[in-house]
Amino acid sequence: MIIALNNKSNLNKIEFEEYQNQLENIEATSQMIVCPTYLNVNAFRLKKMNLGAQNVSATTKGAYTGEISAEDLKTYHVEYCIVGHSERRQNQHESFEEINHKLLRLEENEIIPILCIGETKEEREQNKVKEILKEELESAIQDLKEKEKIIIAYEPIWSIGTGIIPTKEEIIEVFEFIKTILPNNKILYGGSANEKNIEMLKTISQIDGFLLGGLSLKPNELQTFINILENRN
Ligand code: 13P
Repeated sequence: MIIALNNKSNLNKIEFEEYQNQLENIEATSQMIVCPTYLNVNAFRLKKMNLGAQNVSATTKGAYTGEISAEDLKTYHVEYCIVGHSERRQNQHESFEEINHKLLRLEENEIIPILCIGETKEEREQNKVKEILKEELESAIQDLKEKEKIIIAYEPIWSIGTGIIPTKEEIIEVFEFIKTILPNNKILYGGSANEKNIEMLKTISQIDGFLLGGLSLKPNELQTFINILENRN
């Protein structure tokens, strides 16, 4: 299993130091990927976990003030990078084209993208889930040479930070649909996954891992989540 921790815009320099002390004590057989803020990327020092970024520039290095290139991330030993998170699609108005360019820059630098896709509540109510996911997926992977290397994170927008998760049947339907487009990719679930619902989520064999937001900031609850996931007492 893969457990990716999306810290979002949390943990300042001092808090991140303490956080790493706590993560050092986490017991897990799953692959753990920590995605801290850009600034904390430079302070990452955990030997048993992998490093991910939360974003990357759509362009190569150059005159793009405030952007961080994939080439630059690579020199900080970033191995994974979240792309197309719904918070960025909504707040930064990231376009399909921009997301595609980010994936291309990551591929050029051998960083594995964690591509986030997901529908809003309205889109689900209007029965548009597959249409939305298909568009998000197909536009993102255009011109990529090694499509099977991307990790997909299905994050229903209505589930992020709300405590509400889809039913088992809804998750299976979406995962099976993603597999009709990308049959060989790892697919994570994200959106209010926690130590209370992991018992149900772990029964879904299609899930290859989780992308955790809120829970990533609570090492004790995270350990409980991992213990249940990995059947550890
Ligand atoms: P929560 O786990 O806080 O719902 O966030 C999920 C998420 O957006 C991870 O990228």
